[in-house]
Amino acid sequence: MSADEVGVIASLSADRWHPVADVAESRALPIATIHSMVDRQLVCSDGDDPAATRLREAEARLESIGWHPHAAVYHALSGWQGVSGEEGSRCHAAIAQVERLQRHASSHGRLPSHFHRRDDALDRVRLPPEPFDDDFARVLRNRRTTRHFRKGVPLPLAHFTRLLHGTFGAMGTETLAPGMVAIRRTSPSGGGLHPIEAYPLVMDVEGLQPGFYHYEPATHMLALLESIPSNPARELAATLLIGQTYFAQASALVFHVARIDRHHWKYRRHPKAYKAVLLDSGHLSQTFHLLAAERALGAFYTAAINDVDVSRRLHLDPLREAVIAANGVGVIDHRQNELHLNPEPYAPRPDALAC
Ligand SMILES: Cc1cc2nc3c(=O)[nH]c(=O)nc-3n(C[C@H](O)[C@H](O)[C@H](O)COP(=O)(O)O)c2cc1C
Repeated sequence: MSADEVGVIASLSADRWHPVADVAESRALPIATIHSMVDRQLVCSDGDDPAATRLREAEARLESIGWHPHAAVYHALSGWQGVSGEEGSRCHAAIAQVERLQRHASSHGRLPSHFHRRDDALDRVRLPPEPFDDDFARVLRNRRTTRHFRKGVPLPLAHFTRLLHGTFGAMGTETLAPGMVAIRRTSPSGGGLHPIEAYPLVMDVEGLQPGFYHYEPATHMLALLESIPSNPARELAATLLIGQTYFAQASALVFHVARIDRHHWKYRRHPKAYKAVLLDSGHLSQTFHLLAAERALGAFYTAAINDVDVSRRLHLDPLREAVIAANGVGVIDHRQNELHLNPEPYAPRPDALAC
């Protein structure tokens, strides 16, 4: 885009038509410049040529679904297609990891401190120590991101169905007004709308044909969308997860897909609505993680996905259904550990300062 074209866009109203001749004259530009901007879909026009019609219709759909313009731009610009990272192929030995981090620090300076302390605090109150070793606490403590899975050991179906039901299943419904029903899940949801749907990519789960499914919480059923043999399903998983091959050894992925039209129906062009959708996915992921930890299964969550490719593969409407992130689950391979965070136990110390 030229500086002149940026000037044209800045001079236009978002909700009023301007005659092309007036725009050209006010910016001292030839009319052909404005027409070229229409052809390149930089501005909307009421003309009936295909490019103008497509753009106008897309704008109208964005508007009718309730997208906030900034969120729509962010969502479109942060979508990935065909991205392949180096995570799967690089050396994961501890020493290599330390060297990578040190190189990073030499370019970008020190990592800000791990514990944060406000020097302007008015006072400090010492809290009583509270035991954190009951069953529930143990599940929380045992939650971790798993990146090593047992090959050739299928996930028992009962575990998988518990994870799907416990995370994405409906624990109840409530009719808010005639025809308007909220579902209740084990995780909270902004506005009580639960816009996120689960799309499992099954690679190796006992009794399930490998392939892409949609989980239907109303009936606790899996709707098969595409049958894909186990090995190609793993290759697909690695590709959709931008080459994170360690995650492709899991038994199943579960993609989180937000029904933007349901969520934004209530929060129309709301500046916080998109953020709330992302936060919903994080809550569901934590529940998924904890259910896996309770059964000593390995789980993960990743936002580094080729979301545009997932959307196409699932034939989603990209304006109404936004692919957000993916969880995964499988049987842990305890013999390998190098890809894991291995923290030392820690309890608050009276003398601890931010460092
Ligand atoms: C939003 C989000 C995105 C993440 N994306 C990735 C990812 O792309 N690849 C990966 O290996 N781990 C990913 N993780 C896992 C984190 O690296 C992991 O949670 C962190 O290292 C702490 O380890 P822990 O989960 O075992 O406590 C992600 C976690 C979150 C919450």
